[in-house]
Amino acid sequence: MHIKTATFVVSNQEVSKCPENNLPEYAFIGRSNVGKSSLINMLTNQKKLAKTSGRPGKTQLINHFLINEHWYLVDLPGYGYARVSKSSKKTFQKFITAYFRERKQLVSAFVLVDIRHEPQQIDLNFMQWLGEHGIPFSIIFTKSDKLKPKAIERNVGHYQSVLEQSWAELPKHFVTSSSNFTGKDELLNYIDSINSSLKNIKPQFD
Ligand code: GTP
Ligand code: MG
Repeated sequence: MHIKTATFVVSNQEVSKCPENNLPEYAFIGRSNVGKSSLINMLTNQKKLAKTSGRPGKTQLINHFLINEHWYLVDLPGYGYARVSKSSKKTFQKFITAYFRERKQLVSAFVLVDIRHEPQQIDLNFMQWLGEHGIPFSIIFTKSDKLKPKAIERNVGHYQSVLEQSWAELPKHFVTSSSNFTGKDELLNYIDSINSSLKNIKPQFD
């Protein structure tokens, strides 16, 4: 799939104020600084569509981007950023949780994890929570440009062996880099295949 148009629609903290039409959407979630906003820019071929920063805590709202006038990419604030105040952490948690519980248009979440790191408990817990709430998700390994192919293979294998301890079936995964466009086609084709299957069963997504 090729992205022809990508436009920012709305930012807010309230699920009730997210776009009301019934288009399918895909949300990027993960720890602060893992590369959620950068990946949206990479997929859409835009440098500044989603705001990025070298410092964690940049994205603070639910951001909807309309793609090809037919579906949304959703950029969310990161979790696990130690330097945010306790009260804003709670607010984040509240509206992110509300988003995942209430947003009917959410077709799939993508949980982003930095490919360089050991599996982090906070990510594993979040995946567990998604599973318990019946929310489909895939894993996106980010920043693969920082590792050599052998190390990528090793780290992905290690991550999967940790997941195997709690998941009967492993979630789908993608290896990406926003710096060198790794994984772009795979990710867009995957979304495209879901969108096509939705069209067949859910006419309201037309
Ligand atoms: P928050 O909005 O704070 O939760 O962060 P985020 O997950 O949206 O991360 P963001 O896209 O802002 O990127 C964080 C930092 O990582 C920036 O300095 C990016 O340039 C860098 N970064 C993101 N993706 C990649 C990548 O694929 N490769 C490399 N080398 N750096 C990346
Ligand atoms: Mg961000």
